[in-house]
Amino acid sequence: MATVYYTASSLDGFIVDEHDSLNWLMRNDIDGSGFGGYNDFIATVGAIVMGAATYRWLIDNQPDWLYTQPTWVVTHHPETVTTPQVQTFSGDVSELHPMLVSAAGDRDVWVVGGGRLAAQFTDAGLVDELVVHFAPCTLGAGQPVLPTQSRWRLADTGRNRDFVGARWLRAAD
Ligand SMILES: NC(=O)c1ccc[n+]([C@@H]2O[C@H](COP(=O)([O-])OP(=O)(O)OC[C@H]3O[C@@H](n4cnc5c(N)ncnc54)[C@H](OP(=O)(O)O)[C@@H]3O)[C@@H](O)[C@H]2O)c1
Repeated sequence: MATVYYTASSLDGFIVDEHDSLNWLMRNDIDGSGFGGYNDFIATVGAIVMGAATYRWLIDNQPDWLYTQPTWVVTHHPETVTTPQVQTFSGDVSELHPMLVSAAGDRDVWVVGGGRLAAQFTDAGLVDELVVHFAPCTLGAGQPVLPTQSRWRLADTGRNRDFVGARWLRAAD
């Protein structure tokens, strides 16, 4: 099964603005069952991994834990992860990946982000698919969607209300 980095970005390639806000994203309209929509995507996900900054953003901004799938937070500070159903990992993501694949069973692994964690999976050759929905705005600064060098093969594109979505597969070098 696939390991997928699925995220949303500004047109200039940022996943969060310089004030750690996603308001620029949330104000746009998207159909969860439209092209690349979240409702269809999350049904394909069997295990989840996210970086410490993404975890902290969720804890600070969402009243309830959103995910039913087994989830790992990658952090140097496991004591800061207080969600009971979440496990922690520190170190080389290549060592975590087999656990994610095993937990996912016949479904996919979702690399939620942020970009810094997704870059480590990408550098290790572990991201099979990249799915990005681009919101119709630029931010000028923030955290980048994928801060590494990588090559992809375009597989699919589509409009979803305010967003343009695209799906790429890892390019075979
Ligand atoms: N637009 C979207 O759809 C979207 C999606 C995902 C995230 N986001 C946003 O993006 C922002 C965070 O992205 P980001 O790229 O800055 O950070 P991130 O990838 O979420 O987290 C990076 C942090 O994770 C920990 N970490 C990463 N790799 C590690 C490793 N191998 N071993 C141990 N710890 C490791 C380190 O924190 P410690 O040293 O503190 O442990 C590191 O500073 C958040 O604001 C989030 O809301 C947006």
